[in-house]
Amino acid sequence: MRVDRFLSNLPCFNRKQVRLLLAEKRVRIDGAVISDPHAEVREFSRVEVDSEILQAGKPVRHYMLHKPPGCVSATSDPQHPTVLDLIHEPDKDDLHIAGRLDFNTTGLMLITNDGSWSRRLTQPQTKLPKVYYVETEQLIGPQYAQKFTEGLYFAFEDLTTLPADLVVLGPRSARLSIVEGRYHQVKRMFGYFDNKVLRLHRERMGALVLDDSLKPGEYRPLTAQEIEMI
Ligand code: URA
Repeated sequence: MRVDRFLSNLPCFNRKQVRLLLAEKRVRIDGAVISDPHAEVREFSRVEVDSEILQAGKPVRHYMLHKPPGCVSATSDPQHPTVLDLIHEPDKDDLHIAGRLDFNTTGLMLITNDGSWSRRLTQPQTKLPKVYYVETEQLIGPQYAQKFTEGLYFAFEDLTTLPADLVVLGPRSARLSIVEGRYHQVKRMFGYFDNKVLRLHRERMGALVLDDSLKPGEYRPLTAQEIEMI
């Protein structure tokens, strides 16, 4: 919400007083003096007028989880354990998943209470590469890389996938980088060649790499530097 609206919604100030407060540089958001009436106040922002705190701001929370196989990327599920069951933090209802993985897919999963951060991470316009280690049932042929670069037509969504980068690591293993996150995208891409994905592990999202000290099922808060990477 705009800071002028935030302040004039409070019972203590009318609109004229708000204009004056801003002009007199008496308003601070997260410690910085604000005079622009359009400056944004988020639920996480600390807002002060003179030395009085009007909103303390909720703490922003971001976690990196090493998702194990056999759990659902959802906040609740009637049948199976969820990734949220692995997070032992207060106010878990506030948290959501930024970029889901299938039931048996493992690897980097990001969990946060900051909706605009997770939108930046997942919206297709950001074109953030998601890097997967893949193992398949059949041999990975030389024609795969070319086809993945050209894009595959997905009839259900009526779209062609954006260029993806395949690095073949062994006869049945590869590293695939995609910039979208379509439903079952990696499995459907290999499915084009009737090649079943047997193991799928997300190693990276943009510059954020899964911490190799995290065992499956373990998590840790992101560092300030990691949060800035998105
Ligand atoms: N693509 C898939 O098919 N599954 C995942 O879990 C992630 C990407």
